[in-house]
Amino acid sequence: MKLMVIGGGGREHAIIKKLKENSTIDTIYALPGNGGIALDAECVNIAATDIDGIVGFARENAIDYAVVAPDDPLVLGCVDALNELGIPCFGPTKAAAIIEGSKVFSKNLMKKYGIPTAQYEVFTDAEKALEYVKTAPIPTVIKADGLALGKGVIIAMTVQEAEEAIVEIMQDKKFGASGNQIVIEEFLTGPEVSVLSFTDGNVVKPMVSSMDHKRAGDNDTGLNTGGMGTIAPNPYYTKDVADRCMEEIFLPTIRAMKAEGRTFKGCLYFGLMITENGPKVIEYNCRFGDPETQVVLPLMTSDLFTVMQAVTNETLADTPVEFADANASCVVMASAGYPVSYEKGYEMTIPEDVLPYVYIAGAKEKDGKLLTNGGRVLGVTSVASTLKDAIAASYEKVEKIHFDNAFYRHDIGARALMKTED
Ligand code: AMP
Ligand code: GLY
Repeated sequence: MKLMVIGGGGREHAIIKKLKENSTIDTIYALPGNGGIALDAECVNIAATDIDGIVGFARENAIDYAVVAPDDPLVLGCVDALNELGIPCFGPTKAAAIIEGSKVFSKNLMKKYGIPTAQYEVFTDAEKALEYVKTAPIPTVIKADGLALGKGVIIAMTVQEAEEAIVEIMQDKKFGASGNQIVIEEFLTGPEVSVLSFTDGNVVKPMVSSMDHKRAGDNDTGLNTGGMGTIAPNPYYTKDVADRCMEEIFLPTIRAMKAEGRTFKGCLYFGLMITENGPKVIEYNCRFGDPETQVVLPLMTSDLFTVMQAVTNETLADTPVEFADANASCVVMASAGYPVSYEKGYEMTIPEDVLPYVYIAGAKEKDGKLLTNGGRVLGVTSVASTLKDAIAASYEKVEKIHFDNAFYRHDIGARALMKTED
């Protein structure tokens, strides 16, 4: 079998490493992949958003199956285009990817089907939004409707911050057309849990839960990033919470999508907050999370390709999706200055014994050397029977990796550990 994985970050590296456990797969192409992924797949220099290029490559190379991992190609209809060629895919169609592509869509879906989420208002007119926030409860949360590289959510701590956010998004068009509409919503509090799930549109099988660490600095200080580390399972996601999520959120969501004629097939990511009034949806993503995937897939004991094919063929009900009774941690190493501005091109040294645990997010190969080529450079994952050991093992490996100007958080998993030791 010849597979193609669209994307080129740490998440895609983790997906590719897991897929390689299936012996029916002969070749995996990564479009575009990166210098680190090149150790595990054949990288092809076609951007993840170049739908025509992807389709052309698939046709010329007789691809048997495609995994479309990032949000932008999914929202652009990459799966639809490949399906038209007759290539089976893992990932939602454009009609279903809107669950991430439009926050207005997802909020209205939740309201219509009674799925718990923060109270909200939608605005298409900046003046009306500016008027509204004058009396809105503070803090308030402003969200650009469309994709915004993970930066379209502003938690405004004052009315002035809220006004600035509205002006930037709706008038200055900081995120382009993504800011034509905004959602202004209630600020919720409580621990956050990420639950990635497989769904074929009929049944939903959640993966092990996880916890992201979004801020750049220790103790949740500094700017929001794409994610500086993860642990799994998330100790706040108790059996009781999981049962409520299945009944109140997961099943209602996939049924709602089906009822809307937008059957979702692929990985549906539930970003949840466990509030005093129960679990609520903070966001949906139409794809695997990054760096959640780097802790979730290493714990998966079922064969990933088999499960992905079951999603495509709508036979997920009969296909086991199982996880080890263990803990995983992933510590992301980034380049100083991330997420604002950072330099690239530093030589990376990763000892042989550590390499199998490393998922590379931003690297390029030059003259036989691996050079940094992104803000988030790599993630180091460890699995152990306790969370404490998994965290310690990741940091031990991080110490052995070197590139100039590297930085990482020192407290990945600390909050989770406090909960487990309660
Ligand atoms: P998102 O880009 O949708 O993942 O949002 C980024 C982060 O903003 C989330 O992980 C939450 O920490 C926070 N957030 C989003 N919506 C809310 C909300 N209604 N209340 C409190 N925090 C929120
Ligand atoms: N780690 C959060 C995301 O993938 O959106």
